[in-house]
Amino acid sequence: MEDLTVVDHPVVKRHLSILRDKTTETAAFRRSIKTIGTILAYHALKDLPMDEIEIETPIEKTTGYRYNKEVIVVPILRAGLSLVDGIISFIPDAKVGHIGVYRDEESHEPVNYYHNFPGGLHGAYTLVVDPMLATGGSGSHALKFLKETGADKIKFVSLISAPEGIERLRKDHPDVPLITASVDECLNDDAFIVPGLGDAGDRYFGTL
Ligand code: PRP
Repeated sequence: MEDLTVVDHPVVKRHLSILRDKTTETAAFRRSIKTIGTILAYHALKDLPMDEIEIETPIEKTTGYRYNKEVIVVPILRAGLSLVDGIISFIPDAKVGHIGVYRDEESHEPVNYYHNFPGGLHGAYTLVVDPMLATGGSGSHALKFLKETGADKIKFVSLISAPEGIERLRKDHPDVPLITASVDECLNDDAFIVPGLGDAGDRYFGTL
């Protein structure tokens, strides 16, 4: 990957601690992931290109700005949905596409089961979002599929990332920057992130 941004901020650290804590209940889990989603979006969209436009305040004419590119947020189902609320609170103009990938529990290989993207992926500013970057298999698969479908300006946004997943994206998609709230230690034998926060999808949707 071209670059790695680890968002180091007291508010992120506090909310990440709430998410990691196994005693955190669903409502608090949802609040904290929404807050971090907003902060990650702030960093991911820092270089969104703008056009200058002329606007008129009640006092006089001045220079204003509008986005030069469409923003498309693509959560990797299901857990990626947990970050969408915070991101679209920050940029309500964003369109949302979906890609369904699950990780086979035995082989840990990604399986694609659904997609639905808005038109205009080519030329848009696409954020692929998933709270967990573990082996990187799901992320790499989703990025490949999006590129084949026309996306050409993509960033990957994750909540926590394992070094193994970062390495996988670096190798498979060196052109895709990664924005994450934490680089964790490693994966365990079940390919779960350590220390991690468990299964983000199950904790967000209450399907434990
Ligand atoms: C989890 C997570 C990622 C994937 C990460 O999804 O949300 O999509 O695993 O693992 P990887 O980097 O090794 O591919 P899961 O398969 O549990 O499905 P879910 O989102 O439906 O809970």
